[in-house]
Amino acid sequence: TRPLKVALLGCGVVGSEVARIMTTHADDLAARIGAPVELAGVAVRRPSKVREGIDPSLITTDATALVKRGDIDVVVEVIGGIEPARTLITTAFEYGASVVSANKALLAQDGAALHAAAEANDKDLYYEAAVAGAIPLIRPLRESLAGDKVNRVLGIVNGTTNFILDKMDSTGAGYQEALDEATALGYAEADPTADIEGFDAAAKAAILAGIAFHTRVRLDDVYREGMTEVTAADFASAKNMGCTIKLLAICERAEDGASVTARVHPAMIPLTHPLASVRGAYNAVFVESDASGQLMFYGPGAGGSPTASAVLGDLVAVCRNRLSGATGPGESAYAALTVSPMGDVVTRY
Ligand code: NDP
Ligand code: HSE
Repeated sequence: TRPLKVALLGCGVVGSEVARIMTTHADDLAARIGAPVELAGVAVRRPSKVREGIDPSLITTDATALVKRGDIDVVVEVIGGIEPARTLITTAFEYGASVVSANKALLAQDGAALHAAAEANDKDLYYEAAVAGAIPLIRPLRESLAGDKVNRVLGIVNGTTNFILDKMDSTGAGYQEALDEATALGYAEADPTADIEGFDAAAKAAILAGIAFHTRVRLDDVYREGMTEVTAADFASAKNMGCTIKLLAICERAEDGASVTARVHPAMIPLTHPLASVRGAYNAVFVESDASGQLMFYGPGAGGSPTASAVLGDLVAVCRNRLSGATGPGESAYAALTVSPMGDVVTRY
C-alpha cells in the first residue's frame, strides 16, 4: 500500500510532539491504519530554529505551497489563530487533503464554514485535540452518544486556568507566578489572555454545545467571565464554606427543548464534589443525557504530549477513512436551535 502523506502545519508545543510520536510509533501507526504514514513537510515561521528529530529538508516557511502540493493526504493544522490557519485548511480541502486541527479558536468562530468546505470536497475535518487535550470528548459526543439525548455538558475545560487556580488555592502562589509556570510548561495559549479571560474555555464550550445539542453555537453566543478577578481572599472565603473555586464551562439544553445556553465563569465547588479534586492542568467534564445518566471524562487537558495523543487518534481515523473511501461525521444533521448566553437554567453546582 502506498504511504499516506501528512503535512504538519506548525511545530511548536503540540506539533513537535505530533512529529515525535509519528516517528517513534511509525510501525504501530502503519499497522493500525493499514499503510505507512509519511511526514511530507513541516511548515513553521522560524526555519533556522533547531527541531530535534525532524529532517531539516522537510522544513518550510511556505505552508501554502505545502498544502497545494496536491499529493498530501492529511494536513495537520497546529499553528493556531484564525489566519493563516483558516485559509490553509480550506485550501487543503480544495487540493484533496483531509484535515486534523487542534484550533478551538478557529473552530468556535468558523466551524460551520469549515465543515461545509470539508463536505463540499468530500473530505474529513477532525478536531478531538481542540477540546480538553488528551480526553476523548468530541468523538464520544458525536459518535458514542449520537443515539442518546444530551442535556448538559459541564466541567473544567481549560488547563492553564485550572493550574493557576489550583496553585493559588493549594500553595498560596501569586497569580502571575502561576501563569508564568503554566506558560513554561506549554499549557497556555500563544496569548494567555485567551486562557485567563475565558475565551479559550468559551471556544471549547461553543464547540461542545454545538456537537452535544446538534446546533450551531459560536464563541459570541457564549457568556464569558475569566478568572482574573479571583483573589486569595476569595479562596479563603470559599474554604470557610467547604468549597474551592474553579473556572467552569456549562452548556445546557433548556427544558422547552427549543433553546440552549452556554457560559463560562468561575464557580464555587463543594470540596466533596469530584471537580474540586481536579488538579494542575487536568480537565474534567460531566455529560448528562437521557439514557446514559451522568458520564465523567477526566484527564490531562493541555500540554504537548497529551494534545498530540488526541491529534494522532484523529490522524489514524482520517487515514483509515482515506483508505476505505469513507468520510467521518459532518455537519449535515445540525438543526437550528435558539442559543441564549445565560438563559434561565440554573446550574445545580
Ligand atoms: P505554539 O505557539 O507552540 O506553536 C505554533 C507553531 O506554529 C510554531 O511551530 C510556529 O512556528 C508555527 N507557526 C506560527 N505561524 C505560522 C505560519 N504563519 N506559518 C507556518 N507556521 C507557523 O502553539 P501550540 O503548539 O501550543 O498550539 C498549537 C495549536 O494547538 C493552537 O491552535 C492551540 O490552541 C492548540 N492547542 C494547544 C494545546 C497546548 O496545550 N499547547 C492544547 C490543545 C490545543 P515557529 O516554531 O517557527 O515559531
Ligand atoms: N491553553 C489551553 C489550556 C490548551 O490551557 O487548556 C489546551 O486546549
